Amino acid sequence: MTIAPPMDSRTADDASRPGADNRGSGLTRPMSLSSPRGPVTAALAVVLRSPVDQPPIVSDLPAQIDRAIGASVDVLSDGDLQLALFWLYELHYGGIADVDERWEWQPGLLACRASIEHAMEAALRDSVHVPAPPAQTDAENVAQALFALTAEGDEQRLSHYIRSEATPEQAREFLIARSLYTLKEADPHSWAIPRLRGRAKSALVEVQSDEYGAGRAERMHQQLYARAMEAAGLDSNYGSYLDVIDAHTLCALNTMSMFGLHRRLRGALVGHLAAYEMTSSLPCQRIAAGLRRLGYGDDVVDYYDEHVEADAVHEQIAGRDLAGGLVEQEPELLADVLFGAAACLAVEGRAADHMLAAWTEGRSGLRTPPRTHRALVAGPKKRIPSKRRRVRDGG
Ligand SMILES: [Fe+2]
Ligand SMILES: [Fe+2]
Repeated sequence: MTIAPPMDSRTADDASRPGADNRGSGLTRPMSLSSPRGPVTAALAVVLRSPVDQPPIVSDLPAQIDRAIGASVDVLSDGDLQLALFWLYELHYGGIADVDERWEWQPGLLACRASIEHAMEAALRDSVHVPAPPAQTDAENVAQALFALTAEGDEQRLSHYIRSEATPEQAREFLIARSLYTLKEADPHSWAIPRLRGRAKSALVEVQSDEYGAGRAERMHQQLYARAMEAAGLDSNYGSYLDVIDAHTLCALNTMSMFGLHRRLRGALVGHLAAYEMTSSLPCQRIAAGLRRLGYGDDVVDYYDEHVEADAVHEQIAGRDLAGGLVEQEPELLADVLFGAAACLAVEGRAADHMLAAWTEGRSGLRTPPRTHRALVAGPKKRIPSKRRRVRDGG
């Protein structure tokens, strides 16, 4: 396959971007290309490092992908394929430093992405147990079906462990693993906004407005998480820890991106968001308690405190007005709404189980403990009451 250049000749240039050195935001600097994890990402890295108008002959990339898919025991936990898909999706989000921005819409690379997506969607549809649809498809019954599906189960064990047993190092590993999604929290679901109508669109925008701080940049949930990482002595630049993040965590994020970037999967994306919101409030309460038990202050815990109340509201909007509203408008999407919700629980559960299993066996929950662990982190600081808490407490 020879990759032909499009007309535009601009290239990605980290240093020329406004706010490229906006320290602490974690949000404005494109991530760096991480280390390859196999033949697919090795070949893809060569392509991505080339300018589109001087493309390499990457005749073996589609073949590498086909071979890797054919040989993979489980595409969903295949680090090489999941990392390749993550890189390809990142071209649509914040971009990758020193990677020509025109690769985003390069047809040959889109075809490569489609091959991996095809295998991934098939694996999800094969492995995810989707509940029977409710007899009535009005918004209330759809919401109740989603609440029943997401009622607390085994997938919440990780937050119980963090509340009562996690060590400071395990808590930092958790913050690192979650950073891949949370530093761009809400972005994958925002792809759906122009694809919805009426009640469902309005509900999604209402939820997303909170996620993006309702006009206050410092209250964006992405920003709260960046601050939490910095306060915990971690690097908040997007993708800083990509090399140590496991395939299950990549898969969880890729699932959202795949649903988000395909209009035909808008039902699955809506179901995913509903399930995500419905499984957030109580776990966040437990994680906040665990972080406080370890001595972290409000600067770290604020993100989780915020979600205890916010997601108790979001789950109602997402269940009734977003998912229920969508099914009332487009009843044929009910099966995909349920599939998306079940897929959310499955992939998030796998990522959580992987981390918890490693911890209970005395291993790191990451691929390797990141070097910054000990270099940057002296341990939790004493809790310092935030201005908000002092005001609330009357102090
Ligand atoms: Fe949030
Ligand atoms: Fe939320």
